[in-house]
Amino acid sequence: MCGKLGEGDSPHFAAGFGRTGPTGYPNLAFVPAKWGPSPGFSRTLLRRRRTAGRHMNLEDHLARLNRIGIALSSERDLTRLLATILQEARDFTHAEGGTLYSVEGDRLRFLATQNDALDRRSSATVCAAHEPDEYLPLSRESMAGYVGLTGQAINLEDVYRIPPDRPYRFNSGFDRRYDYRTQSMLMVPMKDAEGHILGVLQLINALDASGTIEPFDGRWEDLVMSLASQAAVAIRNVRLTEELKAAYLDTIFRLSVAAEYKDTETANHIRRVAHYSAIIAEGLGFEPDRVERIRCAAPMHDVGKIGIPESILQKPGKLTPDEYETMKKHTILGARIFDGAEAPLLRTSATVALTHHERFDGSGYPHGLEGTRIPIEGQIIALADVFDALSSPRCYKPAYPIERCLEIIRHECAHHFHPDVVRAFMARIDDVLAVRARYAPEGIAQPESS
Ligand SMILES: [Fe+2]
Ligand SMILES: [Fe+2]
Repeated sequence: MCGKLGEGDSPHFAAGFGRTGPTGYPNLAFVPAKWGPSPGFSRTLLRRRRTAGRHMNLEDHLARLNRIGIALSSERDLTRLLATILQEARDFTHAEGGTLYSVEGDRLRFLATQNDALDRRSSATVCAAHEPDEYLPLSRESMAGYVGLTGQAINLEDVYRIPPDRPYRFNSGFDRRYDYRTQSMLMVPMKDAEGHILGVLQLINALDASGTIEPFDGRWEDLVMSLASQAAVAIRNVRLTEELKAAYLDTIFRLSVAAEYKDTETANHIRRVAHYSAIIAEGLGFEPDRVERIRCAAPMHDVGKIGIPESILQKPGKLTPDEYETMKKHTILGARIFDGAEAPLLRTSATVALTHHERFDGSGYPHGLEGTRIPIEGQIIALADVFDALSSPRCYKPAYPIERCLEIIRHECAHHFHPDVVRAFMARIDDVLAVRARYAPEGIAQPESS
């Protein structure tokens, strides 16, 4: 899964962000500088910006460091955070390029990289190097490994002239691959308040006011280490928030599976309904946040079944009128589970649990709501749930052919289902079927390609 690289082998990777790796960090990616430079960015402008910082005194730098710290601690998006860290560190040191690594066990993982010189080249070159999940062994022989292990900074005037008594060597793979010349380099550890090394910040090629490569000014090493440590804590905080969010969603999913265990439905039913619902919500033009909320709340539609006796849920034959009345209560029980919840996701879950059996014509339950009085979230999940029931085998029926399922849904337009929801569903039927193929109902063969 993971490629091995030497430092300098990495630095230009495109996109890939937004998806996090197993540790919660995003896959290695090239992150564009926040304020440029983009291809065509004026080198003069770049120099002017860099030059402006040259005349700052220590006090100015400390004040700036403080402002950076505040900015980093308020950033919640990991991609933007990494880009900001690199940009700030490079502005601080007038570095042409920079790379961030995280320490993960006995390995270093490339997180993000920027390089003005390569930015000015074609993006095709940059994209060609995209290889997610690239790792470097945490060993003293590599420069980043040395910093990651010892916590000592490395400041070299020329990486091609490392004194022979040093344990590490420079890997020139990246320079060769991109016809680049790394010369000066500053590498500092990223430590948290307890002194644990969380990562390494690498800066390459300090530029003077005329754009000529010069050594990194040793006076700023401590300041850069300070910045790197602020960055480390900011990265860790964002990662913890993301882990918390993932755990939260996982809990919701497991709770829904627990409810479904009592029933005859399956984890894949929950997944399919969640994705069908999100597709419909997208088709209705909802904002991405709302789409995600619906995707995450959809699995909770039958959570109230946790309070319904198994003798009813798993009864093979027809329910008696009394049993049916009991069964209908799963909607109210489900909503009650989320009583008093303030988080928008949980409030949406309550809505979905309560209203997914309401029907557009008012003939549904538990309240017989009609038309637009039924929350749209409930209407979306109603269609997704019914389509899945129709297109999956049940103990009392086989899976219906898709055409027949669609016919039934069309027929129920404005009766069971909201017409807008039906239209959005039909318009995105290809995506719906792709989800169905990916999480095939039990008893239906998986397509070979998935
Ligand atoms: Fe239900
Ligand atoms: Fe369901």
